[in-house]
Amino acid sequence: MLISKIIYVWKKGVDIMNPRKIKENILLMGAIDWNRRLFDSLIPLPDGTSYNAYLIKGSEKTVLLDTVDLPMTDVLLSQLKSVKNVDFIVSHHAEQDHSGAIPHVLKKYPYAKVITSSKGKDMIVNHLCVPEEKVVTVEDGEELSLGDKTLKFIYTPWVHWPETMVTYLKEDKILFSCDFFGSHIATTDIYVTDEGQVYEAAKRYFAEIMMPFRNIIKKNIQKISEYEINMIAPSHGPIYDKPDFITDAYRDWISDIPKNSVVLPYISMHGSTKKMVQYLVAALSERGVKVHQFDLAVTDTGKLAITLVDAATIVIGTPTVHVGPHPNVTYAVNLANVLKPKAKFASVIASYGWGSKAIEQIANMIPNLKVEILEPVLVKGYPRENDFKALDKLADMIATNHKKNNFQ
Ligand code: FEO
Repeated sequence: MLISKIIYVWKKGVDIMNPRKIKENILLMGAIDWNRRLFDSLIPLPDGTSYNAYLIKGSEKTVLLDTVDLPMTDVLLSQLKSVKNVDFIVSHHAEQDHSGAIPHVLKKYPYAKVITSSKGKDMIVNHLCVPEEKVVTVEDGEELSLGDKTLKFIYTPWVHWPETMVTYLKEDKILFSCDFFGSHIATTDIYVTDEGQVYEAAKRYFAEIMMPFRNIIKKNIQKISEYEINMIAPSHGPIYDKPDFITDAYRDWISDIPKNSVVLPYISMHGSTKKMVQYLVAALSERGVKVHQFDLAVTDTGKLAITLVDAATIVIGTPTVHVGPHPNVTYAVNLANVLKPKAKFASVIASYGWGSKAIEQIANMIPNLKVEILEPVLVKGYPRENDFKALDKLADMIATNHKKNNFQ
């Protein structure tokens, strides 16, 4: 057994941690995925991630909250080895990184039922091929007694799928939040120890996953604020034993008021656009505006997403490729449109050789952004004196608009 465990760990690059006690009869289980670098074949994971599951043993019933990603099933089953009975598996969210091992846990505990929200049932049945009769739905606010412990299920839709819910453990005042408040970090820490690291990872996670649902999240935060919460236990990253740290951060991120900053993603093929970017960044900086510039040829899109959380203005820098924007720019603009940041202004600085529709095409690609378009700057070839004047004018417009709106 020890040999096979060592081989498994070596092959998968994961540690099989023993279940770790959070409180009496509440155990942290799950897998730490140190080597994962991409989620959904889209989202960069520079710090890996974890799939946290929690086992709660009541005096009468035992419940497992969420499971792990399918390739990590053996880790969870190894942790459950000495657990004789599981009565319920709560699936807060049907996405496979938390639900993937449910069929295997059901095989081990054939009498267990899966508890999920009304919208979750269909997903569990269709994505995981779990028989319908194994799935029990709970309503918003419904409670389940485990004997000396009581679970309250709270619907928190769109964090980040329509079926998502959280569980409040009444006696211990713990909120099990699944993706909500999560962070992609592989760590042996049970609780947050490095707030700076977790803040950035949680903000990255919010930006990539939650930001499009800012307005619904406001309602969800309002809903959970009615509960006294001593601890928030997400299904990615460490547990928050000081819950205000993450709920205050979320309140800031979901606010409608952006900060005095500009995000400037760009591509330059032969240096013309880069010169415009350098000039505009310096001009904005001189006017007291913070700028985050990203060369899309080498950028971690997660870093770009993080800065989109707060920016008041987005400026796109692009050369012209076959009359339109560079394909990497198209990707970034599409990403910004999908993530729906709170930015209030946008513009384009572009260079071309013999003809360009880059500005019109970019403007048509951002219907989700509620932005005022500031006069773009289009340059034929390399920028010269008049073009720098136009960039100064753009910097003036941005700085003035930020000031007028009191963006800090
Ligand atoms: Fe962590 Fe939406 O899954």
